[in-house]
Amino acid sequence: MTYSFFKLAAASTVATACFCTAAAQAATAPAPLKIGVILPFSGPYAPYGEQISSGIKVYMKEHGDTVAGRKVQVIYKDDTGVAPEVDKRLAQELLVNEKVDLLAGFGMTPSALAVAPLATKAKCPMVVMNAGSAVIPSRSPYIIRVSESLPQVTRPAAKWAAKHGIKKVYTLVADYAPGIDTEKAFTETFEKLGGTIVGSVRVPVTNTDFASYIQKIKDEKPDAVFMFLPPGPATISFVKSYHERGLRKAGIKMLGTHDLTEETLIDSLGNGVIGTITSGYYSAAHDSDLNRKFVKEYKAMFGPDAKINFMSATGYDGMAAIYAALTKTGGDSDGDKLMQAFKGMSFESPRGPVTIDPVTRDMTQNIYMREVKLVDGHLANVEFDKEANVKAQP
Ligand code: PHB
Repeated sequence: MTYSFFKLAAASTVATACFCTAAAQAATAPAPLKIGVILPFSGPYAPYGEQISSGIKVYMKEHGDTVAGRKVQVIYKDDTGVAPEVDKRLAQELLVNEKVDLLAGFGMTPSALAVAPLATKAKCPMVVMNAGSAVIPSRSPYIIRVSESLPQVTRPAAKWAAKHGIKKVYTLVADYAPGIDTEKAFTETFEKLGGTIVGSVRVPVTNTDFASYIQKIKDEKPDAVFMFLPPGPATISFVKSYHERGLRKAGIKMLGTHDLTEETLIDSLGNGVIGTITSGYYSAAHDSDLNRKFVKEYKAMFGPDAKINFMSATGYDGMAAIYAALTKTGGDSDGDKLMQAFKGMSFESPRGPVTIDPVTRDMTQNIYMREVKLVDGHLANVEFDKEANVKAQP
């Protein structure tokens, strides 16, 4: 389903023989590289679309809209959130009507899983920019993922807890693949290190009323509650109930992956989250020159108060991977050639060094431990430790 730059160049040679010079010149311009980006731009997960597309735009502002002689054209589609049927329809439209060279985006696991078979059938590379359940890249040989696998970000949090006097944990996760992955990875790692899981609950993904769950957790008197919810209104409600029901006062710590305190939500969570420990692959407060440049450019484009989270970084890195792959193929967007170019690719990201594992097609990267602190009067996730080069699929 991809256009080969070379096939097109050959076709345009014929055109040169037939038409006047100006027309021939127009005909020799290579076809644009079309990228169909499917993300939630409306509904409770609309910030995912905003963050990821902003990361894409920052990359294109910094690196231009032409790569290996091909003009880059990004076509955005709104899947509204957890709506796999919508994802399938949008992907089909992008492949058949728009004849895109690549599919990208995918905020939620159900979206990525729904589209994977279409990418395989069309031999169209699919760049997953957020969806995190471990199984995703195995669902199509045309998938690369530039975000995370949830076990990859979860295990360091379990290790940190076990090493820092936390003996009893209650887990609360959203009842879908990413939540189940997270629960499993946390439990296995924590128990192996001598910790005890005193209770666990899976809540519907759309649930926003945590009062009864939180009360039950309080009654069990764990040292900490470990949670995974896809960031959104549920997170704000969870944290509100945690405070209202007195868990913090009772000394029950709140632990999570970076989803818990990501930067688009953190201000709504209030200063009560100061001291919260999370694990993640990107913080806007990451200390590197490339990240400072990324943050500066992002704010220049979207305003001084723009929020920058891990999704902003994956939009940026997804484009970095696409530009590098197309450069390697010399502008050829054949799906198999692009996949070959993606495999094993390493580059510096605003999050630190990353490599696309040539076998699993998932990102190997540093996972940082972070603490919420006030930085220049704003809540920020400040990295204080890291596990280097963590594989997504050990
Ligand atoms: C997912 O559905 O895979 C998902 C959603 C939100 C996240 C991470 C993973 O922050």
